[in-house]
Amino acid sequence: MSDLSFQRCINPACRATVDLADTSFRCPKCGGLLDVAYDWDRLPVPKSLKHFESKWANRSDPLDFSGVWRFRELFPFAPDAKVMTVGEGQTLCQRADTVAAYVGMNPGTVYLEYEGMNPSGSFKDNGMTAAFTHARMTGATRAACASTGNTSASLAIYCAAGGGSPPMRAVIFIGSGKISYGKLSQALEHGALTVQIAGDFDDALRQVQDVSRQLGIYLVNSVNPFRLEGQKTIMFRILEALRWRVPDWIVVPGGNLGNVSSFGKAFTELKELGLIDRTPRLAVVNAAGADTFYQLYDRHGLRWNAGEFDKAKYDAYMSAMDAANRRADTLASAIEINRPVNLPKALRALERCGGVVREATDQEMLDAKAKIGAGGLGCEPASAASVAGLLKLVKEGVIAKSDTVACVLTGHVLKDPDATVAYHTADPAVFEAKLGKRGVKRAMFANRAVQVPNQLSEIVKAIELYA
Ligand code: F0G
Repeated sequence: MSDLSFQRCINPACRATVDLADTSFRCPKCGGLLDVAYDWDRLPVPKSLKHFESKWANRSDPLDFSGVWRFRELFPFAPDAKVMTVGEGQTLCQRADTVAAYVGMNPGTVYLEYEGMNPSGSFKDNGMTAAFTHARMTGATRAACASTGNTSASLAIYCAAGGGSPPMRAVIFIGSGKISYGKLSQALEHGALTVQIAGDFDDALRQVQDVSRQLGIYLVNSVNPFRLEGQKTIMFRILEALRWRVPDWIVVPGGNLGNVSSFGKAFTELKELGLIDRTPRLAVVNAAGADTFYQLYDRHGLRWNAGEFDKAKYDAYMSAMDAANRRADTLASAIEINRPVNLPKALRALERCGGVVREATDQEMLDAKAKIGAGGLGCEPASAASVAGLLKLVKEGVIAKSDTVACVLTGHVLKDPDATVAYHTADPAVFEAKLGKRGVKRAMFANRAVQVPNQLSEIVKAIELYA
């Protein structure tokens, strides 16, 4: 492969470089995480972001149609002929005045980046198309991930649609009972080998890394830096929707912390390439039941510190968590993660972009989700962490009413319909079984179905009363 792109250890004291084709995704010298890096001086970099508008007229080329690959000059690791796309990234960045009113901001300031529009229904396709392409470049025939459901749905789709001889086989590891039916159904429907582990995501991620190493299977979890290259385009599309204006804030849910890491890299590179003159600030929102990053960053003051981050503090926190056998526990199953694999990269992103971390309870996420839905965009509970976090940051005065903010809605409402139905139900038993037992007390914004007898006059009466 060419020497214009390669992998490089993120640890500034190490900076070991690794061949582009290597698939161990760990620094061979220090064990640190890797970035995909480019020799930008020898690559054709666009002079302005407006350059990408030229792709809009060329939609018959699948690479220019893709909302990921039309930005490929900003992650140029793959020859065009190797790219595998299913038309990902046709997303919407919608002005959301209902949400602005909910969080107390001025009209016209809040935008929702709706990643539910991707082929598999979540943002994961942005990264999967890049990782799958890299997998093909390395000759892999099997690809694996641990997942809370969306990564696996995405991998299953790319393997099923990818063709090739032999086709790529998807092997997915999920925590038994830890994934919503919407997502499980996608893995099964698209033919992935689905391995249900008696444990949670954190267990599954540990296992899949060992199994992949042992069996030489290509790993597509976000420890894979090629995933994060594709996810940078979520930020490029936000800039595009804002006519290349940089917002003041990006707010994103935090699970394995791939997104925030990728977003930080995207803005750092754009700034270094002279394509933007400032970066937005980044806000990451954990679920309160899976809040390792919030605890370490906000409560314990852990910082990237130019790469010299306090590893002892991190290790002590993790040991205490293990000693207490504390497990991630939230209705937002997508982000039910206590051992985020990208934590060092996320610290780096927050240092570079001036970030903050908050947490949101299941109650707060569900209320925010209902408000997002009332504004016309349906998302899953984890995605609503972004708006729940925004509400807090506005109340605290960290985000001003007049700031421009883009919240990333990471997954579609149909990913987890049980949570939505339980919130809006008129049946206390259904509410209790799914939400009440997790500490959700009320559904402030519930839209209850109306029960009527099977009788025309009664039906008419009910409609006149309510509509
Ligand atoms: N939102 C949704 C809907 C997700 O599925 C995930 C992660 C996240 C947010 C968190 O993103 O890891 O970049 O911080 N889901 C993974 C999965 C873990 O397996 O589908 P992150």
